[in-house]
Amino acid sequence: GKSYEYIKVSTPRTGVGLIEIHRPKALNALFTPLILELNEAFKAFDKDHSIGAMVLTGSHKAFAAGADIKEMSTKDFADAYGNDFIESWSELPNTVKKPVISAVNGHALGGGCELAMMCDIMYVSEKANLGQPEIKLGIIPGAGGSQRLTRAIGKSKAMELILTGKNFSGRNAYDWGLAAQIFETPEQCVDAALETAETIASYSRIAVKACKEVVNKSQDLGVREGVEYERRVFHGLFGSEDQKIGMTAFAEKKKAQWKHR
Ligand code: CAA
Repeated sequence: GKSYEYIKVSTPRTGVGLIEIHRPKALNALFTPLILELNEAFKAFDKDHSIGAMVLTGSHKAFAAGADIKEMSTKDFADAYGNDFIESWSELPNTVKKPVISAVNGHALGGGCELAMMCDIMYVSEKANLGQPEIKLGIIPGAGGSQRLTRAIGKSKAMELILTGKNFSGRNAYDWGLAAQIFETPEQCVDAALETAETIASYSRIAVKACKEVVNKSQDLGVREGVEYERRVFHGLFGSEDQKIGMTAFAEKKKAQWKHR
């Protein structure tokens, strides 16, 4: 595979692409060169027919300690607005169609927490330390934190966290429903994310793609429009071979051999 400077990319299990953020000297602080590598790696896996799902993680110490404060400190309005600072960070949720699981260990602060929330499923370990501390720097979350955290845990709690800049634990993230599962150790967290990704990758790519699409619609549409949208996509799947293959295999008590894998 291709080698990058700030991330490590591998395929540790069948159908699973793993991306590890690797900028140890700055606790995986995010800056544009790193984000561009992330975008490139995500797009490559998204296009690769042998890959069905992805896992994004950092180190045991830091998922990502946020946007690079040293890089940002001298930025002015014209540069930030004129060059759409941080817009490239939104490519993950906007363009990647295959499911991405974040395995969060250590610090996931500011842009790091936002990056974890851009993924489709979040797993955390007990040692995870999350938060939106931007208020302490005289700014606000800039990569979706005010929107995604609020939708995930509710307004009052999100408002409190964003206004105080107080960090929260992996246990909190799990209790509040931000994370789907919690694990004792970082190793268990990453392993479980890989295992879930492998399960997802074992299903029909068409059905998986449609699942992600309709669940994400729930974030943008009202329930009535959302349910109608779901039904249209549901109807569409009766035109896929995999619907026939899946239902025939059930009737014959066999394992489905998906066409779209
Ligand atoms: N940007 C740049 N460098 C960072 C960084 C960041 N966000 N976070 C850590 N580093 C660097 C430190 O400067 C330090 O570098 P040096 O060794 O050269 O001094 C190195 O990483 C190790 O960090 P610490 O010595 O601080 O490690 P620690 O264990 O004592 O503390 C920490 C860890 C609590 C995460 C602390 O580093 C910290 O508070 N970091 C900043 C977190 C933060 O505010 N993130 C939000 C950024 S704003 C943002 O993300 C905007 C947005 O919405 C997109």
